[in-house]
Amino acid sequence: MPKKPQIADFMALKGQRKIVCLTAYSAPMAHALDPHCDMLLVGDSVAMVIYGMDTTQNADLNMMIRHGQAVMRRRKSSLVVIDLPAGSYENSPAQALASASEIMAKTGADAVKLEGGTDLAPHVKCLVDSGIPVLGHIGLLPQHAVAGTAFRITGRSEEEASQLHIDANALVDAGVFGIVMEGIIEPVAASIAMGCAVPTIGIGASAACDGQILVTEDVLGLYDAFTPKFVRKFANLQDDISAAASGYRAAVIDGSFPTKDHLFWPKKP
Ligand code: KIV
Repeated sequence: MPKKPQIADFMALKGQRKIVCLTAYSAPMAHALDPHCDMLLVGDSVAMVIYGMDTTQNADLNMMIRHGQAVMRRRKSSLVVIDLPAGSYENSPAQALASASEIMAKTGADAVKLEGGTDLAPHVKCLVDSGIPVLGHIGLLPQHAVAGTAFRITGRSEEEASQLHIDANALVDAGVFGIVMEGIIEPVAASIAMGCAVPTIGIGASAACDGQILVTEDVLGLYDAFTPKFVRKFANLQDDISAAASGYRAAVIDGSFPTKDHLFWPKKP
């Protein structure tokens, strides 16, 4: 039985080497990514990337649980963190605890993530006090973005920059084991990252963060609805899928597939 990944081991990577994180929503993707990652995030981006919905606000608790279960079936050594979906936690610490407890009980994941700063600190503290590890998420918060409008990068004004510092400190004080920093201008993100007591994971933030995360389908060239500036495509699998489908079509039509080796024959007497 492989050893269950530990939050403390993840946190100890800060200052040792950069932390590698990607999203995963399915068992085969978890299997492929696990050896290369420190953390797999079952992000609510699943609503847009897999279901073709307009916003992450359409994700719900059942969706997150089903995808969390799929990822947990194939992960070995990466920490698995599951997003609390919009509407499942903001109202009160008690609501957050009920939703997070359901996710943890039904998936066996290692932690949950929620979006927000000072406003959510009491919710984070309640989960952490109840034994549920929490990853914070500040800056650009997709659960609050208005559908159909461009995501807005944060930290450009002094007020925003100072609020981001306050948010990060509030989350650390509440007990998060790490903070995702999304869509924050570089100097502000770098200064938060360098002063933060827990690992910071950047996405469109700063190379000074302790680690980086991207949506896997962006990295693989599998999501074509929109590609943010902070994405680097390390493959173009849409093209590979299209070429494979075209080859299959040609083989079915010209009769070269299936061959006799793909078929079942009566056993020899
Ligand atoms: O939902 C998600 O995929 C995320 C990451 C992009 C950080 O929150």
